[in-house]
Amino acid sequence: MMQTISTVAELRLALNNKPNIGFVPTMGNLHAGHIHLVNLAKQQCDYVVVSIFVNPLQFGANEDLANYPRTLEADCEKLKAAGCDIVFTPTVREMYPQITQSAAGIQLNQSMTIQPPAIANDLCGASRPGHFAGVATVVAKLFNIVQPQTAFFGKKDFQQLFIIRELVKQLNYPIQIIAGETVREASGLALSSRNGYLSAAQKQEAAVLNQALQSIASAIQSQNTQFESLENAAKIRLNATGWLVDYVTVRSALTLLPASQTDKHLVILAAAKIGNTRLIDNIELTL
Ligand code: PAJ
Repeated sequence: MMQTISTVAELRLALNNKPNIGFVPTMGNLHAGHIHLVNLAKQQCDYVVVSIFVNPLQFGANEDLANYPRTLEADCEKLKAAGCDIVFTPTVREMYPQITQSAAGIQLNQSMTIQPPAIANDLCGASRPGHFAGVATVVAKLFNIVQPQTAFFGKKDFQQLFIIRELVKQLNYPIQIIAGETVREASGLALSSRNGYLSAAQKQEAAVLNQALQSIASAIQSQNTQFESLENAAKIRLNATGWLVDYVTVRSALTLLPASQTDKHLVILAAAKIGNTRLIDNIELTL
């Protein structure tokens, strides 16, 4: 029987003495990418906890916090079917008890925060200032609440996964981080809760994002390592399909710094907007 728990105190009680806890943090509106992580957790752990929490701390002022899809009932059905043991659904006040509300708006007052490494200001962090500090802080809080042995993150959010690995390493969390492969639609479009914002026509155009990355990957595999010209060609192609490109870049998968000719493990990352919807994707490449 899956339990739904919304307070930290009840969760701690329920998890008391549970060995080998696997944890999958999410913001809900679950799709097959999330469920893939739950399946990995089921395979590797005795007890599986999934959190659903749309974390205000990681959203910028002009981002989609208010509109972010909230589908708790359908999410719980999917988690039950996947064999999840506990779904943790805290309120904002439960996660940020110092919260205050005034005419000026809501203040979370989470004054203790995790400052992520410099790479958090690059790639997605360049256009989303404070985003990864918000992610790292809520994940640290969730780790302290759940105290899992293992936690599962998707490669779809490659930079996030990288920063979580740094969090665990640099702050000595005794937690093993397991990465799940990106789950895609038949078109190649990476599953995302934000795909729900797309019209049917936009969804077709959205598939070009992955195709553009695939083109770069196959060029590199056939010895074309002119990274900058490959990136520029992809940007031109995306702009022509109606995308507003934020970045397309070939990086070292080990450091996330711009790729050099000697790097053997690469990742090609992109972020772009179609209409008002910002999507990301990446492809790893080992030479
Ligand atoms: P969310 O976007 O809900 O994603 C939860 C987890 O699912 C993340 O680890 C993400 O990488 C993974 N995921 C999303 N789409 C995927 C796909 N198509 N294939 C495989 N995995 C996928 O990421 C967050 O929430 C938040 O930032 C969070 C870590 C929960 C902190 O608030």
